[in-house]
Amino acid sequence: MSTAALLALYGIVIIAAAGLWAAAATTGARHARWFAAGGCLAVVGAAAIAAGLAVRDVAFADEKLFVGVPLALAGCVAGLAAIGRRRRADGADGADGTDDPATRIALIAAVIAVAGAAAETWIIGGPVRVVPTVVLLAVVALAIGATWAVVDRRGRRTVTGFAALAGLAVGASIGWVWLADTAPPSLEAAPGHHAVAAGASAGAGAEASVSVADLRTPADPGRRTDRFTLTAKRSLVVLDDGATIDAWTFDGQVPGPELRVREGDLVEVELRNDDIAAGVTLHWHGVDVPNGEDGVAGVTQDAVLPGDSFDYRFVADEPGTYWYHTHQGSAEGVRKGLYGMLVVEPADPPRPADGAGTLDVSAPVHTFGSHVVVGEHAHAETREVAPGTRVRVRLADTDLEPLAARLEGVPFTVVAVDGRDLAGGAEVADRSLRLPAGGRIDVEFTMPDARVALGVDRSREAGLVFLPGEGDASGPALAVAGDTASAVPMPVPSAAPELDLLSYGAPDPAAVRLAAATPDVDARLVLDRLPRFVGGAPKYAYTVDGRVFPHIDPVSVREGDLVRLTIVNRGFESHPMHVHGHHVLVLSRDGVVATGAPLRLDSVDVRPGEVWQVLLVADNPGIWMDHCHNLEHAAEGMMMTLAYEGVTSPFEHDGHGNRPE
Ligand code: C2O
Ligand code: CU
Repeated sequence: MSTAALLALYGIVIIAAAGLWAAAATTGARHARWFAAGGCLAVVGAAAIAAGLAVRDVAFADEKLFVGVPLALAGCVAGLAAIGRRRRADGADGADGTDDPATRIALIAAVIAVAGAAAETWIIGGPVRVVPTVVLLAVVALAIGATWAVVDRRGRRTVTGFAALAGLAVGASIGWVWLADTAPPSLEAAPGHHAVAAGASAGAGAEASVSVADLRTPADPGRRTDRFTLTAKRSLVVLDDGATIDAWTFDGQVPGPELRVREGDLVEVELRNDDIAAGVTLHWHGVDVPNGEDGVAGVTQDAVLPGDSFDYRFVADEPGTYWYHTHQGSAEGVRKGLYGMLVVEPADPPRPADGAGTLDVSAPVHTFGSHVVVGEHAHAETREVAPGTRVRVRLADTDLEPLAARLEGVPFTVVAVDGRDLAGGAEVADRSLRLPAGGRIDVEFTMPDARVALGVDRSREAGLVFLPGEGDASGPALAVAGDTASAVPMPVPSAAPELDLLSYGAPDPAAVRLAAATPDVDARLVLDRLPRFVGGAPKYAYTVDGRVFPHIDPVSVREGDLVRLTIVNRGFESHPMHVHGHHVLVLSRDGVVATGAPLRLDSVDVRPGEVWQVLLVADNPGIWMDHCHNLEHAAEGMMMTLAYEGVTSPFEHDGHGNRPE
């Protein structure tokens, strides 16, 4: 059974156990025995499920095994003892309902204890923390005390006393959680918080502190420079399926203009904001820029408000497929259209030996309401391509949900993922590709003498169609032949098995050695969904280690550290975790070691119940966001930082209208 299914089962079984005990405590003795037996069975079942989960990873089950299950078992023991006493008292079935107080109290205590166990997993969550655990146990004890006072007729004052204390404990913890939400953010590395093995960095001492505002790219007049201006503005955009969308755009178009630069170039982009009242920034997703160029409002800069501008500068030192988007209120901004592609072409691109031409197209997939746009088109974009042409398609998922895509009609090779080349991949056919939100996959194929089509799971209309023909084999500027292909069915990704990139391509000895090295920092991120306050409002929030942004402890590092991250998804939704400023090397997924070409990602597709281990070299000082790229999850808590010691930010995450998520 899948881990996600086991997690769901535990949650259901523990609630069912509480329900059965509630029935046992409230029905007549004849049925009570059976309900109690059911309640006990459910608790034992929950214990077994928790043990099964712990085998997969203790983070799935520690709060269950160490708190919930023992509490529920204690409840069962008390409840069973009560049933036993009742049987002895009655001598037989068919009690007359005149239980002694001890029996009634014990039965209700069982309900309270098992309900406490359920609350523990659905409200408190893991990993186990002392204060919430003590509060939970105290509330359970006080509720049992109140029960005793009522049943044993201890008088009004005792009853009120217990009830008031229990209420106080619950109220105080809600108040405390609410207050904690208004506490100062924890985005910078806590000094001395660093979990380096003793001596590893001894002597480094307290580095002088540096502001993110000073971690910028210096001007370099000697370097070939690509200059762009992007203007954020509201525009009515007419899609080619006839729909008009009220978009937030760069330069009036969606996607924003594709920026193509050459490896080694200096890229200078001026961002202007015409009329996006919420403010904008530019984040270079996947480009490991200096921290001050990273474009996170409230962390690396202030949001650019209407009439303002901001200049970004970075060296495009790694060829590959990237994208840019606003990082100010991005859940709304990106969805409405503030995104575009950034392609860094290799300094000396490989040319097909046989003199054939090349074609290079990018295909960001984005959803506007019910309209899916691949590249710039809501209808399949058809191109004529001369057979023999080497075609590279740069797929990107700019939506919130994972994307499945399928190339049909030709065998293809995955040549890069997340802006990093993937060496030695074999040609495959009839495989679908899965991209996490924010992720990119580049595929290459040689144009055959037949139709090739790329379809996506979100749409039966949008996609790319390549028809054999004249084409212009010299470059990317091929004419769009029209959208006649929409009459032809597009490939259905779900009909083909998924290509697993963890075992794809040729392993690399250097990466294998790196993977075997002992990390300086070993951090675990436990992803879940729990009720929390986010920005003052109660939410069924997305949590890391039971907390929400900006109160999740940063992963604190020093320059040069080797950092291992273990990401555990206890939730029922995919969390495409995106680390800014770095790529991570995938070590394993669910304990299965990656065996293919080194997979260096900036967006890690952590599906429900999965455990990923990834390695990161801390070589880019700054305060870096590390968040779920389902941007709505990020906005509801699932966002934290990877923070270098000694780096500070003068920007306020909630000042100046800044909304980093
Ligand atoms: Cu593509 Cu923090 O984002
Ligand atoms: Cu998520």
